[in-house]
Amino acid sequence: MCGIVGYVGKRPCRDLLIAGLEKLEYRGYDSAGISLLQNGHIDSVRAVGNLANLRAAVGIEGEGGNGGVAVAAPPATIGLAHTRWATHGRVTEENAHPHGDCEDRIQIVLNGIVENHAELRRELEAEGHSFTSETDAEIVAHLIERHDEGDLTDAVRAAFAELRGHYAFAAMHSDHPDTLVAARQECPLVVGIGDGETFLASAIPAFLAQTRRALLVENGEIVTIDAAGAALTDGEGTPVNRESEEVTWDEDAAEKGGFPTYMLKEIYEQPDAIAETITDRLPATDRVDLSELELPPDFVAGMRRIVIVACGTSYHAGLVGRYAIEQWARVPVEMDIASEYRYRDPVVGPDDLVIGITQSGETADTLAAMRLARERGATVMALTNIMGSQATRDADTVLFTRAGLEVCVAATKTFTAQAAAMYLLGLWLAQSRGTLPPERIAELIAELKGIPSKTAETLEAVDEGVRRVARSQDEARFFLYLGRNIGLPVCLEGALKMKEISYIPSDAYAAGEMKHGPIALLDESTPVVCVATESPILDKVLSNVAEVRARGAAVIAVATEGSERVAEVADQTLYVPPTDWVLQPILAILPLQLLAYHVARFRGLNVDQPRNLAKTVTVE
Ligand code: F6R
Repeated sequence: MCGIVGYVGKRPCRDLLIAGLEKLEYRGYDSAGISLLQNGHIDSVRAVGNLANLRAAVGIEGEGGNGGVAVAAPPATIGLAHTRWATHGRVTEENAHPHGDCEDRIQIVLNGIVENHAELRRELEAEGHSFTSETDAEIVAHLIERHDEGDLTDAVRAAFAELRGHYAFAAMHSDHPDTLVAARQECPLVVGIGDGETFLASAIPAFLAQTRRALLVENGEIVTIDAAGAALTDGEGTPVNRESEEVTWDEDAAEKGGFPTYMLKEIYEQPDAIAETITDRLPATDRVDLSELELPPDFVAGMRRIVIVACGTSYHAGLVGRYAIEQWARVPVEMDIASEYRYRDPVVGPDDLVIGITQSGETADTLAAMRLARERGATVMALTNIMGSQATRDADTVLFTRAGLEVCVAATKTFTAQAAAMYLLGLWLAQSRGTLPPERIAELIAELKGIPSKTAETLEAVDEGVRRVARSQDEARFFLYLGRNIGLPVCLEGALKMKEISYIPSDAYAAGEMKHGPIALLDESTPVVCVATESPILDKVLSNVAEVRARGAAVIAVATEGSERVAEVADQTLYVPPTDWVLQPILAILPLQLLAYHVARFRGLNVDQPRNLAKTVTVE
């Protein structure tokens, strides 16, 4: 979840750009950089770590003293700046943005992922372009160079047409000292229109202190800005007319991207978090690429079993992964709560892959469980969101989610990003071990690629209905969640969210277990949340729903659109779009996250910081 800021106008812009980056710090980052254009020449400075390091590198700390680009040169009035959350390539100064072309006449900053970076890089290298970083982003500077015939907007449009993926980028050219050009495909991009000055950013807070007029750039559009304003065009060069809007947020709302809480903001960031996690690991319609894991093929082919250790929400993501891996790759998967595993003298050895799932990469029980397994000869993988975290150092191999910084204590976007990563792993194992035919893998890849847009669609469509359910249940004293098979981890996670942020006792059960005791809990006052999405065992779930109804409990069902049978037996039904049944959890959890959220908000609770809980955050 990187940050972009750009400026063109009359004011010296170095400090404006860094102030803009400061407003995007909440997104998380591990390095930063700035490019300033003056006298036909671009100076760029990059620094690993926080913005204090960038400030020191540009000489702000030593103003009038020792060096820094902005001290040495007259004040620039056009520039680009960026905070990077590493995806491609390590956290190094070379990999920090901005990135240049061969002649350093062009500089670009990019958020997101360029899916076809490897093939473009090969082509460009064959044409003689030389690269200085490991990033996918640098491709874009060289592509613009390839198409540069004197008009920066045309060159950006031609480069844009060659890219696949999920990104937004902005470019600056030393021959065009009055212009910035940017383009958007899925990742946010917005223009701030000031008085004789114009800003570009990945989020409004970056320029809100300077102007409240914002022009939103939509997918597939290119925007050219100068001091007088902005011109939008589409991929063919046809002008797009859109009025700018007045932003009415106060500072607090701005920090949360206009959402009332971080939790809601992060719930709505899930399409991006999932897309960033999967996009470039699905480089073709029929292939998963997890070569980054560098697991020896012999080990992958001969692995005896997988053991997943994790805590809380990460444990639930592991449960989702278990179904996918067993279903697709036919490797037995054992799940364990890390705080139990570490104390039970587990039987584990060299033929086992042990996966520690930990968003923060710093949860002590998960780290201890991973270390124990490694001592006993297992190959240990960390699935984490945080580069440089302890888990990445304790593991043999690392699979990163790319969800960006999660500020709210309750995990939401990290759960769906973890589930997405587990799906990638399941498919990759199936591909490597030959347990699924290639055409089935291709079908599942197509479904997985469709998940980010279905996530956005679900959030949009379901919120109103969830609010109604939450309003009708905000006095409830107990929630029961019931599901089977792939629906069970969704219930466990939904119940965890409910208790964590609304403080309402909630329990989740395998629906088939109801008759063995818990059914005694049910009466007219108990809302029962059932995950009843399409699957081979939907009939079984529906007969459990009937048992619940017979006790007078109110049934709130999560169902697949078009599945009328569920609505016939439920009191309230929340729909999610159809997808392959193994992938359903990623969509089915969305109404349950929102349900916990709205119930807690109706009760006036602080959802971002629930009582007695703190988040492990390791980003500087
Ligand atoms: C729940 C939640 C926790 C974490 C758990 C593990 O909303 O956030 O249950 O999932 O503390 O944390 P990580 O994944 O950082 O190891």
